[in-house]
Amino acid sequence: MIKDCKTAILISGSGTNLQAFIDAVENNNLNLNLLIVLSNNPHAYGLERAKRAGIEISCIEHAKFLSRELFDEAIIRELEHHEPDLLILAGFMRILSPIFIRKYFGKILNIHPSLLPKYPGLDTHQRALSAGDKWHGSTVHFVTEELDCGPQILQGRIAINYDESADELKERVQKIEHEIFPLAASWVSTGKAKLKNGECWIDGKVSLKPPLFTF
Ligand code: GRF
Repeated sequence: MIKDCKTAILISGSGTNLQAFIDAVENNNLNLNLLIVLSNNPHAYGLERAKRAGIEISCIEHAKFLSRELFDEAIIRELEHHEPDLLILAGFMRILSPIFIRKYFGKILNIHPSLLPKYPGLDTHQRALSAGDKWHGSTVHFVTEELDCGPQILQGRIAINYDESADELKERVQKIEHEIFPLAASWVSTGKAKLKNGECWIDGKVSLKPPLFTF
């Protein structure tokens, strides 16, 4: 159990997942201390959401740095003021370098909009539709150096409607993200889920397949 779990949320865009964290904390459904919201994009609407909630914000524009490593070092310097126990990548559209991942290993969670290992990378909703999949969803996982491949904590899925567009599917998937991402974060902050020997452990046992919630 991490007492008063100091949390940083990294965003690049609209921040609907960030909002789900803010709401869950405000409604006493999630015991995290949201210390800072950091964006690489000055126009990210999520920054407004954070301001409204009274959370400190910081914007570090990746385009102003000569390399990924220099950008990541600047984020680390910012985060070091807060000593976070947990880092939530909520639509943070930058690939983190090994320097960053090693520093916060086991503390970084990402949400990826597919039922991993299906569809790492981009355009996941269209890819699921084009493949004629029956199910689509989202996965919360620990971040490791391999993109979208870190040990999975949990998944949520919905049945695909045969006539929906990629945008409609994305919107429905985002709704379930707002449930499963704060839940996974609570599992990590309470010690129910942890990264150990390169695997996700839940309730003291190796989790070979992530718990799957159907919505
Ligand atoms: C989410 O759909 C998530 O799966 C992906 O980025 C999106 C962020 O959306 N990693 P938002 O900014 O939280 O609305």
